[in-house]
Amino acid sequence: MYPLLNSPLGIGPVTVPNRIVVPAMVTRLSGDDGFVNSHIIERYRRFSEGGAGMVVVEASSVHGGRSGPLLKVSSDEFIPGLSELSAGIHDAGGAKAILQIIHFLKVARSGWRQMISDLAIDELEAIPGLFAAAAQRAERAGFDGVEIHMAHAYTLSSMLSRRNRRRDHYGRTLENRLRLPSLVVDAVLDAVGPGFAVGVRFDAEECIRRGYSVADAGQFAARFADQGVAYVSLSAGGKFEDAVHRDGKPLYPYTGFSGDRCMPGDSYPDATNIWMAEAVRKEVRRRGFFTPIIGAGKISTASLAEGVLERGAADLVGMARGLLADPYMPLKIADGRADEVVRCIYCNVCKSLDENFKTVVCYLWPKGALHAPRPNEARAAAIWPASGSGVQAEPGIGDVRIRWSAAEGDVVGYDVLRSEDDGPFERLTSCTRTAQLDNTVVAGRDYRYLVIPYDSSGARGEPAFAVEGAIAVG
Ligand SMILES: Cc1cc2nc3c(=O)[nH]c(=O)nc-3n(C[C@H](O)[C@H](O)[C@H](O)COP(=O)(O)O)c2cc1C
Repeated sequence: MYPLLNSPLGIGPVTVPNRIVVPAMVTRLSGDDGFVNSHIIERYRRFSEGGAGMVVVEASSVHGGRSGPLLKVSSDEFIPGLSELSAGIHDAGGAKAILQIIHFLKVARSGWRQMISDLAIDELEAIPGLFAAAAQRAERAGFDGVEIHMAHAYTLSSMLSRRNRRRDHYGRTLENRLRLPSLVVDAVLDAVGPGFAVGVRFDAEECIRRGYSVADAGQFAARFADQGVAYVSLSAGGKFEDAVHRDGKPLYPYTGFSGDRCMPGDSYPDATNIWMAEAVRKEVRRRGFFTPIIGAGKISTASLAEGVLERGAADLVGMARGLLADPYMPLKIADGRADEVVRCIYCNVCKSLDENFKTVVCYLWPKGALHAPRPNEARAAAIWPASGSGVQAEPGIGDVRIRWSAAEGDVVGYDVLRSEDDGPFERLTSCTRTAQLDNTVVAGRDYRYLVIPYDSSGARGEPAFAVEGAIAVG
């Protein structure tokens, strides 16, 4: 099953054991001091233990500025903690450990933010050296590589942006916009040894008005491929330009439409952004480069991921929130237990925790847990009580309310499935409560519901049907 997904691939000098990537995800588990702690190590160990091929550790700052709870790699004092982190990832499983490195500008609670046009030439030209020093520290700390963060709202992304209006040779034209990011890539490649992978991540489309799209992104990717990067990872959106300012909070670049496109929520289709990766990859290949491309964005099942690889849309598949929900997904897939995966519902609770500088956890984890449960942690299987599941579905005006009794055992959640007009049951959502409102029904069709409890390891209990007959919505 899933032969491509489970096959190894070389990214520059490093071989990853399979094509499943944990893209960078800020955890907010570090203190404001930016040091690695035991919770961070545990979070990343689980991704590797769970069978991912490559774990990209969250954005870590290359410079000393204040950043709230974010990892730092801006001086040698961070090396011991980062060494423990890379060792934790390597000891726990076969994943390669990549550190994402970031430079960002200042933001204030008033909504003010520093712009790239505010940077003096000497400040700008100091940036490649900061990235190079950070990459060397990551190498000394035992990481397999670094990923240069050029995506979303941060300094290098703002340089690449079509909104970059700097009036010197770092702005406006495509070549000028590429200049600083290219200097960073060269500086990092020069600073590290030949066995160390240097990847880049940038937006395939900015998803803002007057922003760039895949035509520019293809050119960026070809340039970085020509410079010798180990891989190109593609994201989308996440910009300050359309962010919504909330009183008393610094601007968060994922609050506008481009933020939705970066972390597409439940209303978006599966694999929302993969067409972008496909277009960029095509351009890179057309120019004769074989640099691996990573695509991401609402890809949460093995069959979807295998399909992406089969049709050549990407070479590796990033699953951020999907692997946050269940870091053991790759092992379950490899063991033929894909039906035990706790599947992300893209509710974006994790995103709003990040926005509020709170510890990033998943809504589908047991209440109060700091990490996803291990598959062997369930103490008792999820079963319906002797009195029955009590599943009922009540049609309302334009919606259906489904309720059921709490299952017993080590139950953490429920899958809710729905059949329309006697069709097959398909997953509607998963939840941790014992009720769910279905507000995506339309009049004139018949619906049936099915609720399946699952325990903390993801093992499912008996399905319970809501009604014998079908429900017609008014
Ligand atoms: C809580 C959270 C934190 C994130 N932090 C980062 C980050 O540090 N660097 C980055 O490049 N992307 C970050 N992302 C974006 C993800 O890497 C990924 O591109 C996005 O979630 C879409 O993939 P998905 O649909 O598989 O979740 C973050 C996403 C989430 C939900």
